Amino acid sequence: MVIEKSAYQPIGIFDSGYGGLTVFRAIVEELPPYDYLYLGDNARTPYGNRSFETVYHYTLQCVRYLFQRGCRLVILACNTASAKALRGIQQRDLPEIDPARRVLGVIRPSAEVIGQYTQTGSAGILATNGTVASQSYPIETGHFYPDLKVYQQACPMWVPLVENHEFDKPGADYFIRENLAQLFAQSSEIDTILLGCTHYPLLMDKIRQYAPAGCTILSQGEIVAKSLADYLHRHPEMERNCSKNGSRTFLTTDDSALFDRQAKIFLGNPVISAQVDL
Ligand code: DGL
Repeated sequence: MVIEKSAYQPIGIFDSGYGGLTVFRAIVEELPPYDYLYLGDNARTPYGNRSFETVYHYTLQCVRYLFQRGCRLVILACNTASAKALRGIQQRDLPEIDPARRVLGVIRPSAEVIGQYTQTGSAGILATNGTVASQSYPIETGHFYPDLKVYQQACPMWVPLVENHEFDKPGADYFIRENLAQLFAQSSEIDTILLGCTHYPLLMDKIRQYAPAGCTILSQGEIVAKSLADYLHRHPEMERNCSKNGSRTFLTTDDSALFDRQAKIFLGNPVISAQVDL
């Protein structure tokens, strides 16, 4: 693989679609000076119900593309990709592609902090089928909080609701009520919920409406942004190599006009993206 070296070395942020923009937004707020390159694989979203092999293949393809566009550091702002592809990319692919490049995910930073929020010692994870089936959250939280009780609930309809701009419509209420009831049927002790899918913060108002009063609901944007700031602080060799012209560039594998309309809702600012062929 030939990777061009240039002065433009943005931080890459990847998601299957729009969800990673919730992480992008928080990262840019926390660390404004850097250049950022966002890639949404909208043509193949959602990843949540796809096989391990498919998610791995798609994610690796997107990571390689971001490397080719100059990124030395890529954040998988997608739990499904972090659950199914991150470990393999870090261990098998990076040493061969370029050992000096890095790919980081969103599950570990979230697992690191979740135990700080619960009083009852019981936390709920809402995520895609793929993330739940991977058991990544129970495994990762177990490293930091061995006594924490973790209950997971897959919400397979939530990403399509967001991707199809139905997240604030009455149809969303049914699925949110239903999946929250399924989570709390597992344990009434849960007092903290992590939105373990980067699309879900768009549903926050409705989640708050149907979750028990007093329940803490965590979304990942700020958690991942703080963790990235800490990573860059601890890795000056990487930090030095991230270019700092404050640029934000958006790429999508599907129609860019559609991406721009949807991304504006996620970010609150106008977006002009480009369509790319991987
Ligand atoms: N934003 C992705 C996540 O965090 C959504 C996955 C999907 O495409 O289904 O899991």
